[in-house]
Amino acid sequence: MIPYSAIKPYLFKLQPESAHHLVETFLRGTNICPSAYNPWIENHFVSHDSLKQELFGRTFLNPVGLGAGFDKNATMIRGMQALGFGFTEIGTVTPQPQEGNPKPRMFRHIKEESIQNAMGFNNEGMYKVQHRLSKRFPFTTPIGVNIGKNKVTEDKDAVSDYTTLLNTFKDLGDYFVINISSPNTPGLRDLQN
Ligand SMILES: Cc1cc2nc3c(=O)[nH]c(=O)nc-3n(C[C@H](O)[C@H](O)[C@H](O)COP(=O)(O)O)c2cc1C
Repeated sequence: MIPYSAIKPYLFKLQPESAHHLVETFLRGTNICPSAYNPWIENHFVSHDSLKQELFGRTFLNPVGLGAGFDKNATMIRGMQALGFGFTEIGTVTPQPQEGNPKPRMFRHIKEESIQNAMGFNNEGMYKVQHRLSKRFPFTTPIGVNIGKNKVTEDKDAVSDYTTLLNTFKDLGDYFVINISSPNTPGLRDLQN
């Protein structure tokens, strides 16, 4: 296993979004050849009785999960276990596929050790993601589904997007997050009222 510190300088030569796609390609390999990653899961996945929790009728083997935005299209579920995450929140997923904001839209701030996100819910849409999740079901670690309305959906119709998404994922997600906090979809945060 190559340590992150060894590959980081090369990843940082790429645009942040290109680096993300490269890593995604690698982690997608966990779907093609799952057994090749078993030693990796054995080495990285932390589980201990003191970390285990039963919540919402689900077992969380460890309390550190991956937040939404990294695995927007549910392509890396097994890969996230290989990195040690106790649960994964996929999405944000919208009913229809959408491109998101024009690139560049992800900015690396090296001094601050941070990433700035202006993505705008780029994702492949609920049907592709549903299909992918159903192939991986049942999951060994809980899966949260983070849902959002399409940019073209008017605020008055937003509820219809959310009910459509919940109906689509109701038998697949272990928990749901309705994203009305993103600043990258115009007017989205008005829904908080
Ligand atoms: C590039 C990028 C894309 C993100 N996309 C989403 C998203 O689609 N939906 C969402 O709810 N949060 C999204 N987030 C927010 C993260 O889930 C998380 O809340 C945020 O990065 C803060 O957590 P951290 O300090 O662990 O990075 C995104 C963050 C980044 C950096």
